[in-house]
Amino acid sequence: MAAKERFDLTGKTALVTGGSRGIGRAIALALAEHGANVAIVYHSATEAAEEVVAKIKKLGRKAWAFKQDLGQIEALHGLADTAWKTCGKIDVLVNNAGMAYLQRFNEIGLEHFRRVLAVNLEAPFFLTQRIAEHMIAHGIKGRVINLSSKNGLVAEAGLAHYNASKGGIELLTQSLAIELGEHGITVNTIAPGIIITEIGGDFEIDIEGFCKYYYEHIPLEHRFGEVEECVGAAVYFASTAGSYTTGTRILMDGGVLSEQVPRMQYMKRYTNTITGKPGPMKTSYKPKKKQKLADVAKGKK
Ligand SMILES: NC(=O)c1ccc[n+]([C@@H]2O[C@H](COP(=O)([O-])OP(=O)(O)OC[C@H]3O[C@@H](n4cnc5c(N)ncnc54)[C@H](OP(=O)(O)O)[C@@H]3O)[C@@H](O)[C@H]2O)c1
Repeated sequence: MAAKERFDLTGKTALVTGGSRGIGRAIALALAEHGANVAIVYHSATEAAEEVVAKIKKLGRKAWAFKQDLGQIEALHGLADTAWKTCGKIDVLVNNAGMAYLQRFNEIGLEHFRRVLAVNLEAPFFLTQRIAEHMIAHGIKGRVINLSSKNGLVAEAGLAHYNASKGGIELLTQSLAIELGEHGITVNTIAPGIIITEIGGDFEIDIEGFCKYYYEHIPLEHRFGEVEECVGAAVYFASTAGSYTTGTRILMDGGVLSEQVPRMQYMKRYTNTITGKPGPMKTSYKPKKKQKLADVAKGKK
């Protein structure tokens, strides 16, 4: 098989939760562009969902939309059965739908805690459980792709429940990779950093200060990511190209998690692209006077 053909999804059918907006929408369209028929699940944005279905159909693929609150866990085996029957089969399940509240740990009530865990962790668990049963019964060497986050690997303040749900999805992914491996089903995560979507749009936060700080700490061009920058990973995991990849993740965070504590901006002759100061960084730059970290800690100049 030619290398390019290994990314072809012709004849495959994908189910993408949260496919009406944001990252899920971009993934749904990308899978369709690569040849797959695509069904999406959405919560309330009917118009947006219909627009995605129309776009997929325009590409010459089949498309469907299912309206379901994924927080209603008891309904999810039924949703999986309906989707399987309607679409004929499902080769690729993308558990993308997710949500978050920004709250301090001590302010998180049971209702919000349960809601975040239900949508972000329980729904992928029970949807995958039923879809995998169907895949196995039909001998389909399927693909499960879970949307995790950089927050599934390193925590962030104000998001204890969200962090827990994403940490959970990382370990759920590894667990299912083990248990579904003998059936030829792969299970992986896509772990984005900050991607510009509507999630977190209602967070009460000093957004200007937050963005400025964040930009400075994102090594790659000091910018947030675009939804299109998440789709390549989905196509890879969904296709033959990813046939020997399971129980792992692709992180697209602009390098945020590569760094323990920021240092660049404190080095001499570094241009901070936010403030424009001081002079340009030269990779050949060698400090004349070496300052030991221990001395700095002791307040020595
Ligand atoms: N954007 C980021 O910076 C970022 C970073 C790391 C991880 N992620 C993860 O990426 C995934 C997608 O996030 P996004 O930023 O694209 O979010 P988004 O723009 O807010 O879109 C969320 C999608 O999920 C659906 N959804 C939300 N709650 C649902 C529910 N209870 N039942 C059914 N569908 C529901 C929404 O449907 P409706 O349109 O009908 O409301 C929408 O399609 C999430 O798992 C998120 O945690 C995002």
